[in-house]
Amino acid sequence: MSGNVTLKSETPRVSASGLDNVVAAETALSHVDGEAGRLIVAGYEVEDLVKAHDFEGAAAALWTAAGLEPAPSEAEVREALGRAREAAYGYIPALLSSKCHRTVTEGLRSGLSMLADEPDRHAADRDIPAHIRALGAAAVMTAALVRAEAGKSPVAPDARAGHAEDFLRMLRDETPSDAEAEALNAYLVTVADHGMNASTFTARVIASTRAGTISAVVGALCALKGPLHGGAPGPVLDMLDEIGDRENIGPWLEKEIAGGARLMGFGHRVYRVRDPRADVFNKAVTILTNGNERVRFAREVETAALKALRAAKPGHRIDTNMEYYTAVLLEALGIPRDAVTSVFAMARIAGWTAHVMEQERVGRLIRPQSSYVGDWPEDEAAA
Ligand code: ACO
Repeated sequence: MSGNVTLKSETPRVSASGLDNVVAAETALSHVDGEAGRLIVAGYEVEDLVKAHDFEGAAAALWTAAGLEPAPSEAEVREALGRAREAAYGYIPALLSSKCHRTVTEGLRSGLSMLADEPDRHAADRDIPAHIRALGAAAVMTAALVRAEAGKSPVAPDARAGHAEDFLRMLRDETPSDAEAEALNAYLVTVADHGMNASTFTARVIASTRAGTISAVVGALCALKGPLHGGAPGPVLDMLDEIGDRENIGPWLEKEIAGGARLMGFGHRVYRVRDPRADVFNKAVTILTNGNERVRFAREVETAALKALRAAKPGHRIDTNMEYYTAVLLEALGIPRDAVTSVFAMARIAGWTAHVMEQERVGRLIRPQSSYVGDWPEDEAAA
């Protein structure tokens, strides 16, 4: 046996297939207390961060917590983000003509890939840092992709507008109400960062290879896309539509759970109680819609689903996750279900890029080990 080859008897065992309870990084960005149903972001309780800042301020707070120097002010982020949206608009013709995507999220994945990690000196966006270029581009590209799906031409950004307001304006080609801009701001701030979730871990792994911020963002978006992570809100709305009316709630849930289906919008790897973000969105959607019929129906389905899940899975503490009311809130804002994951990414890029900054400072390649369970050469297997 030569060199560094590990013998069968020395193979380390994997602790859990989902890396549960493995601490992968130290971070000053956010902390999830799954037992207490508490989320701290950049030193704020998430509910207070929403009250204190709009999205630009929350992004500034995250990047400051990540050690970015000089620490950006909310006004500086607003100004740079406006310029980043304008620069990103230049990519839209090429993105829309490429037609290499099936969904808005796949389109966003292609669009973000068009940004350079290090732009050359002729690029229009060369003086805007990558974390802000990515954030600006995500809003402009998502709005243009949604409009293209509906056969509508893109709407140019307004660099002077707030980010949430400008996104809704680019999406609809009309200025949103203050309440709508406020509701979207509440959403974007609330989901901007959330501990070591799958997409954030992906971003940190890529950052640890020094591939660059844009590459880390694109990789993280790929992880976010899956329905067990950020892809659940669309299916939540499909579920509400499929249930259809009150009489069908009980029979529908019974059939799905008995068939082993996972109810979208319920359960979380870390939260064992109700996700605090679900309450922020529940409040925002109630204000926005005045608690309309759709919201009342969603609440009834939620109550019945929790009861059914607790009866069917007594050993597990399954509660409502934030994707449930994300779906209802973004639907009330007129965001099509196909675009919900992209809107999630528009917010989470603030967190991913802050984690990239932290990881780049750590400077060490993330390189775990695996436990080999395959066949061994015959002479060793016999030993
Ligand atoms: N519906 C039905 N059963 C569920 C659900 C659910 N939503 N969630 C968990 N369970 C069941 C599982 O089937 C399993 O049952 P079993 O032991 O009888 O096989 C048990 O509860 C434990 O499931 P795990 O997968 O081990 O729980 P985990 O903590 O890994 O799951 C996850 C977390 C993936 C989010 C899961 O709850 C799920 O699939 N939920 C639905 C999808 C969803 O809402 N995703 C969005 C998550 S929030 C976010 O990422 C931003």
